[in-house]
Amino acid sequence: MNPIWTIVILLGVLVIITLFVILIDKLLGGGGERKIIVNKDNVITVTGDDTALNILTNNKVFLPSSCGGKATCGTCKFRLIGDHEPPRQTELPFLSKEEIEEGYRLSCQVKVTHDIEVQVPASALNSKPFMAKVVEIEDLTHDIKRIKFEMTEPFEFKPGQYLQIEVPGIETTRAYSIASDSKDLYHPEVIIRYVPNGVATSFIHKALMTGDKIKITGPFGDFFLQEQSTRPIIMIAGGSGKAPIRSIIFKLMDQNMPRKAMYFFGARTKKDLYYTEYFQEVSKMYPNFTYVPALSDPQKEDNWDGEIGLITDVVRRLTGDLSGSEAYLCGSPGMIDACIKVLKEKGMPEEFIYFDKF
Ligand SMILES: Cc1cc2nc3c(=O)[nH]c(=O)nc-3n(C[C@H](O)[C@H](O)[C@H](O)COP(=O)(O)OP(=O)(O)OC[C@H]3O[C@@H](n4cnc5c(N)ncnc54)[C@H](O)[C@@H]3O)c2cc1C
Ligand code: FES
Repeated sequence: MNPIWTIVILLGVLVIITLFVILIDKLLGGGGERKIIVNKDNVITVTGDDTALNILTNNKVFLPSSCGGKATCGTCKFRLIGDHEPPRQTELPFLSKEEIEEGYRLSCQVKVTHDIEVQVPASALNSKPFMAKVVEIEDLTHDIKRIKFEMTEPFEFKPGQYLQIEVPGIETTRAYSIASDSKDLYHPEVIIRYVPNGVATSFIHKALMTGDKIKITGPFGDFFLQEQSTRPIIMIAGGSGKAPIRSIIFKLMDQNMPRKAMYFFGARTKKDLYYTEYFQEVSKMYPNFTYVPALSDPQKEDNWDGEIGLITDVVRRLTGDLSGSEAYLCGSPGMIDACIKVLKEKGMPEEFIYFDKF
């Protein structure tokens, strides 16, 4: 065949293949412009084929994410409005039946291949990244530290909410409840328990120094003090779960403790207790406030004359009818589930039980 014809035919085939690839890309949504409508009125224009989580983050809509988009933390949930694909298998452990029916997905698992409308928590629109300077690190127990940051711009949050700390170098983030007084916009504090071989807590407990600057993002979360409520309060925490409760109590003290509040803190032995004297002092200052630390496994040398037993048993023992009260719970998933059961047995309606599990 004439060599010119061969070249023409080859070029023709190449053009056809290219057009075919572009067509497939368009059909999959990879090339053209698409839109994400966020909370009805915020419109983001999308090109490329990134995940919804990354696109939202790049457009200053900060959904929490603790696993870097690997579908292992479940924190990046949002709701897709209208028709959409069902969740992938990897998302199912993090979504309840009701959430799936309502269109919830993990935003890190959603590729934006066509126009979509999403609903994100209000906190995602108010959160942003900050560089924070570490100004204090204090040992509270053998495995819990308090870290105080200094901000160059105000960091507003509601008592009970959390922030995310990014581990430098590996861009891994973890959530930590804010433990400080929400009045102090320039010095948020966190209380962090060491998890053996944990990525973030090993960095925080072993490498972080005062003077270091690290990236934090926040605030996040819908676990916070219901300030408009007048219901008596039950607070229950274990381990580092004391963090958001401390912030809530600062707020209640600011308001002169207007409602009855009982705070149960569960630990294994005396060496796991912290801020005991502080909260006992608060009990003396505010007759409406009672602090009940309890040990599940007191040691002989602890000389413990306080409450003994699992925190659920102590709550059951020391409370009466709770149908008119509300509760704030923070601790391990097992502890929280057991506490919810006791509170419901005592008549507390489920919608008045607020919790953060970690
Ligand atoms: C909303 C929210 C608020 C939180 N607030 C706090 C807080 O105020 N203080 C705090 O200390 N933590 C808090 N956490 C937990 C925190 O985000 C991290 O999960 C925790 O610090 C472990 O991170 P890591 O990177 O050190 O461990 P990873 O590297 O993630 O985990 C290492 C190993 O330890 C296991 N592991 C992870 N977490 C725990 C745990 N808590 N106990 C036992 N084993 C574990 C993992 O399954 C894994 O096998 C919060 C979590 C959430 C979702
Ligand atoms: S970012 Fe962790 S599940 Fe999506």
